[in-house]
Amino acid sequence: MATLRFHVDDEFVEIEDVPPTTTVLQWLRATGRTGTREGCAEGDCGACTVLLIDATGRLRSVNSCLLLLPQVDGLRLWTVQGLARGDALHRVQRAMVDLHGSQCGYCTPGFVMSLVEAAHRPELADAEADDWRLDDQLCGNLCRCTGYVPIRAVLRQVAGTCPDDRIQASLDRKTQLPGLYYVVGDQRFHAPATLHEALTILATRDDARVVSGATDLGLDVTQRHVAFSCLVSLDRIEGLRGITVRGERVRIGATTPLTDLERWSETGLPVLHRMLRYFGSRQIKHRATVGGNLCNASPIGDLAPVLLALDAEALIAGPDGLRRLPMDEFFVDYRRIALQKGELLVGVELDLPDGDRKLGAYKVSRRRELDISAVSAAFAVDVEDGRIRAARLAYGGMAATPVRARNAESALVGQPWSEETIDAAAAAVQEELHPLSDHRGSAWYRSTVAGNLLRGFYVETRDRPFRPLPPRHTGTVVADDPGQTVEQP
Ligand SMILES: Cc1cc2nc3c(=O)[nH]c(=O)nc-3n(C[C@H](O)[C@H](O)[C@H](O)COP(=O)(O)OP(=O)(O)OC[C@H]3O[C@@H](n4cnc5c(N)ncnc54)[C@H](O)[C@@H]3O)c2cc1C
Ligand code: FES
Ligand code: FES
Repeated sequence: MATLRFHVDDEFVEIEDVPPTTTVLQWLRATGRTGTREGCAEGDCGACTVLLIDATGRLRSVNSCLLLLPQVDGLRLWTVQGLARGDALHRVQRAMVDLHGSQCGYCTPGFVMSLVEAAHRPELADAEADDWRLDDQLCGNLCRCTGYVPIRAVLRQVAGTCPDDRIQASLDRKTQLPGLYYVVGDQRFHAPATLHEALTILATRDDARVVSGATDLGLDVTQRHVAFSCLVSLDRIEGLRGITVRGERVRIGATTPLTDLERWSETGLPVLHRMLRYFGSRQIKHRATVGGNLCNASPIGDLAPVLLALDAEALIAGPDGLRRLPMDEFFVDYRRIALQKGELLVGVELDLPDGDRKLGAYKVSRRRELDISAVSAAFAVDVEDGRIRAARLAYGGMAATPVRARNAESALVGQPWSEETIDAAAAAVQEELHPLSDHRGSAWYRSTVAGNLLRGFYVETRDRPFRPLPPRHTGTVVADDPGQTVEQP
């Protein structure tokens, strides 16, 4: 008999023989915990938001519609139904009532859970000065009727207050999870505790499919109704998670959640932080991993251009041990990567750029928050004595895979760092890359944006190496005057 054990709202539950591709949301609602709502079932609306305390003891708001039930085995889950103590509402619920943060109430449970996470983030206590962090906290929750002003007022009131609630008591408890082998009928979910075990399963089962955060794979389950027969979760393999800096080199483990990467990169690798600022929502970034972002092989995955521009290496483990592959050779064709059967990505490694390098990262999408890129770009240029010594220009959304614009790079090297040189390189980008037209943008639009982003990069970095995004910016490119921006091209 297959059993999963976890806590939900302080109640210990043991469940048996539930198919492993059941989502947490489906299970919650099927067991009467209908306070948690379903809107889109694809990570876009936030109605299903719950809180998960992971094995490291960190509290994370997550979309329960994309979380598979075995992924919470051994962990602690909080839903909107576990917040109040008897008739006494949680501080966040009280504030939603007092400040009129709800009308029809459909979105409210999801908002409340994102707000409770905000309450437990001490770094948000002072977020007024930096209030893009508040936008980021709630951009994964949609409301059709209340209007965001009262909900933002609740956020300002509760953010960083660290309430002494029932959740507080269960934070920061590290859990060492043993391997999980969960088999129901002809479906199995393995969460091995070691890399060796994971590789053994991959080597022996043709149908094995790796899963990390499931923010992408979960869509196959909820939208395409795929009943995977053998999932291999990397969640419990400790060595695959985390960021290690040794001298000038950094290693980012494949299962590092993007919120962890975001926190480190704000000071550790600001150009990457700039790209992560508009990556999905907080709920998505709490589960989405670096490995999943690269291995889903999307031509519009947002990390790839930055890693290509920074000349990162992929670390790949397989039956024959560990191999390294330049990120340049990782993306082979549309939705195809260079992993062989039995291999998985264990991390990426790169040199931290020195302070003189000119760097930029840009994402252009139809909507600023929680949208997929039409075009993304990352640039790294070294200038010595006024001349370009080296250049790497990488794009997403411009070809079947994330790509470098090599002809344009050649057009830059050896030339003076000037507007004329950049114009020539922008023309080379447009000649070299032939994007498709789709609902996110026509080929002409993408091509024009790609050239203009390079021009914008020049404007930003003409006289200085790199600029982080200011808190309130109105364009993709940050212009010369402090606090001012040029319009999006
Ligand atoms: C609402 C929403 C918004 C999103 N916004 C963005 C965005 O702004 N930018 C963006 O780039 N993406 C976005 N995504 C896509 C997705 O969330 C990310 O690509 C994410 O990083 C995937 O990571 P994951 O761990 O959830 O991958 P999973 O879903 O677990 O896996 C994705 C694929 O990679 C494979 N895989 C995972 N890890 C490994 C590994 N270590 N080795 C080998 N194979 C592996 C899996 O088999 C699967 O095929 C969004 C998705 C949603 C649902
Ligand atoms: S139901 Fe919409 S994000 Fe989960
Ligand atoms: S209160 Fe109706 S959807 Fe938000």
